[in-house]
Amino acid sequence: MSGRSACLFSVLLSLLLLQGSAFVEELDDSFMDTKGSDEIWLIEFYAPWCAFCKQLDPVWHQIGSELRSLGSMVQVGKTDATVNTGLAKEFRVRTYPAILMLKKDTKYNYPGPRTKEGIMDFASRIEGPLVRSLSSPQLFQHAMSHHNVMIVYVGATSELKGNFTSVAEELIAHTYFFSTTRNVLPKSVSLDYLPAIIVFKDGTYVIYDEESDGDLKAWINRERFPNFQHIDSYTLYAMGESGKLVLLAMVEERYLSDKSLRYKHLVERVAEEHKETYSRFFLFGFMAVGDYINGFVMGEVTAPSFLVVNLSNDGYYQPVGPVETERHLLDFLDGVLDSTIEMKGGNGFSQRVQRIIYEAKATLIPVFREAPLIGCFLAGFPLAIGAFFCFLCCRNRTTTDDEDEDTAALSATSVPQRKKIKDKKSD
Ligand SMILES: *[C@@H]1O[C@H](CO)[C@@H](O)[C@H](O)[C@H]1NC(C)=O
Ligand SMILES: *[C@@H]1O[C@H](CO)[C@@H](O)[C@H](O)[C@H]1NC(C)=O
Repeated sequence: MSGRSACLFSVLLSLLLLQGSAFVEELDDSFMDTKGSDEIWLIEFYAPWCAFCKQLDPVWHQIGSELRSLGSMVQVGKTDATVNTGLAKEFRVRTYPAILMLKKDTKYNYPGPRTKEGIMDFASRIEGPLVRSLSSPQLFQHAMSHHNVMIVYVGATSELKGNFTSVAEELIAHTYFFSTTRNVLPKSVSLDYLPAIIVFKDGTYVIYDEESDGDLKAWINRERFPNFQHIDSYTLYAMGESGKLVLLAMVEERYLSDKSLRYKHLVERVAEEHKETYSRFFLFGFMAVGDYINGFVMGEVTAPSFLVVNLSNDGYYQPVGPVETERHLLDFLDGVLDSTIEMKGGNGFSQRVQRIIYEAKATLIPVFREAPLIGCFLAGFPLAIGAFFCFLCCRNRTTTDDEDEDTAALSATSVPQRKKIKDKKSD
């Protein structure tokens, strides 16, 4: 690049950045007092030392300018959470970057990957009505073609609709909620009663039955995932709410080998052809190997391979023999269900300690590589504190009750810890 064009380029670049930043407001602690009551805000909480926040910066400016040009009501802001601690506390920010929305007085935490598409979709979902009305078959078909899972209330206003709306309020950060009337639904849907709640997915539908399905929110959490899908760390984490096990074909991050493709198709086929038997217990999908899953099993997961995870207790299962056929895979699933295959991992005390050590290592090693001094400080500081507490404990070891408390504290932190690894992965 010649000197002149480099100069022109940098002028253009700074113009672009300036233009972008015009759509992103820097917020401080006075925000909650000065904002209008009808305003809707999308806010990024960052910390100056957070590399993943820096990566998000250009995306955030793009989101600001695109929402503006789309005529969205959503205003985009960001704030340094280490300076504006009052605001960060108000929004209960724990990890960076934290992405939240504020609509009226309700706050919504963004649970997905740090991509422009994901965040924009979240913003427009929160901006719109909690329950979107589909008033014609055309609108219904249009929505069907854009969502692989659709949660739909059918009927007039009722107590059930009130319950549906309450659940929507809690789960709108994850998925859309719709309402419609009987005559709008495709003729092929057979309904014995109204009002009804239906989840459309995988080319078919399931109807909520309060008697056999129990709590509506728990049912929606079980049904809101497609039977088979690409799973990233955020989706996997959210699948914990379903209470189901997840069968994963673990594959390479970029180029799938022939063997990976075969494993992926095998899982897809089992998900499809044995839905009746297994979908009550399992969700199915494929996932790229990487930090999150390595953190989960506390080791290196190889691709391709099969893995079943129980997100309720951080346990996982691996096939004992080779899995090359559908029969092998079904035997694996049966072995998991009847406990003939041993569970590894879990959230027992020693597992939790191991996990904390593993995560500390995984967090610190890259820091050491890039900035050994900071690394030493980060590693040395807790160690010094730990040593000091040990010293105190040893001196005053009169009761043993402390141990229970320690365990409780560990269990309280084990999930957010794992979440932190996930949050760092901000591709
Ligand atoms: C609505 O929710 C309440 C409380 O969870 C429950 O008792 C009631 O049966 C629900 N109503 C309908 C129609 O599902
Ligand atoms: C998964 O973990 C939960 C919580 O420990 C447990 O209740 C459930 O039985 C486990 N599922 C299987 C299939 O082992």
